[in-house]
Formats: sequence, structure tokens, C-alpha cells
Amino acid sequence: MEELPIIYLIGFMGAGKSTVAPKLAKCLSMDWVDVDDRIEEDTGFSIPEIFDYYGEDKFRNLEKKAITSVSKENSKIVAVGGGAPMDDENWKIMKTSGVIIYLQIGPEEIFQRIGSDKSRPLLAGLDNGARLEKIKELLSKRHPRYSQADLAVKCNGTDPQKIVEEIAQKIESVRESGSG
Ligand code: S3P
Repeated sequence: MEELPIIYLIGFMGAGKSTVAPKLAKCLSMDWVDVDDRIEEDTGFSIPEIFDYYGEDKFRNLEKKAITSVSKENSKIVAVGGGAPMDDENWKIMKTSGVIIYLQIGPEEIFQRIGSDKSRPLLAGLDNGARLEKIKELLSKRHPRYSQADLAVKCNGTDPQKIVEEIAQKIESVRESGSG
């Protein structure tokens, strides 16, 4: 049986990447990692602290370092932070080292799911109206890149377990074709 390539889960904040990753890993008997968790482990700082103390550019450098490192490791499921695919180098690394899956969700549901979550530095300090507008603005910029994924899964109102089943079913064809 062919070993699966790395499976990158991408999508906007709140799309469910960190929820789906461990469930999908269990289903496919693979390991999983969250890039943001890796950055926090490596630096000893939380993501909001990195943004606060060092700024977004520093965070993006750390993110690229973490993605580069993960891409060289064994096959696993990787939950990728929402902004990472916008960097061309990150995108190339992911495209050439694995399969990219877009967890697709609309702005209103993102807004509902994220609520006033303080762990999202890009939305910090915005009132509800401004938060929704910012989500819409960022999503419209990011969606074209996200859409270049190998597979897109619609996640609006969908139970994470159903998403896992859909991905597992589709990924099975990769395993069966042995094209990796
Ligand atoms: C970000 C998304 C976050 C985290 C950071 C920046 C973004 O990850 O990497 O706050 O630019 O969309 P999640 O998508 O896992 O929330």
C-alpha cells in the first residue's frame, strides 16, 4: 500500500482545520501537527504574543520556517494557519510536498464560529461589525489562492466527522492509484 503524502489542511480562521486534523489523522492512521502549535512550541510564545511583541512579519517568518520544517518530515496531516497559503514560497512548498485540501466556509459562519475569540490577532480590537467586514475583506483576497488547492470541501454547517469522512473517501483514491 502506498504511503500517503503530507495532507495540508488550509482555509480561513475558524474553518475547522485544527478540529478536522486530529480526526482525519485518526481515520487514516496518520500523525498530525498544527503549524501554529509548532510555532508556539518552538518559540515558547503564544501566537498573540508573537504578533504583539514582534509583529506580523516576524510571525510570517516563523510560519515559513515551521512549514519548511514540517514539509521535510514524515507523511502526516498538517493544519496550516489561515494566512500561510498567501505566501508564494509556502504555497510552492506545500504543492510540491503534499496534497492541499481547502476547508471552505463563508464569512458569516466564520464570524459566528470565531465570536470574540482573543487568540486571533488579525481581528483583535474590532467591534462586531468591523470584524465581519475584515473577515469578508480577507476572505475575498484569500479565496482565489485557497481555491487552487487539490481538493475543496464545503464546510458550512457541516459536522466535522462528516468532513473527515468526505476527505478520507476522496483521499483513498490517491492511496489506491499509488501515484505518490
Ligand atoms: C492567521 C490565522 C491563524 C494564525 C494567525 C494568523 C491568518 O491560524 O496563524 O493568527 O492570517 O489568518 P488559524 O487559521 O488556525 O486560526
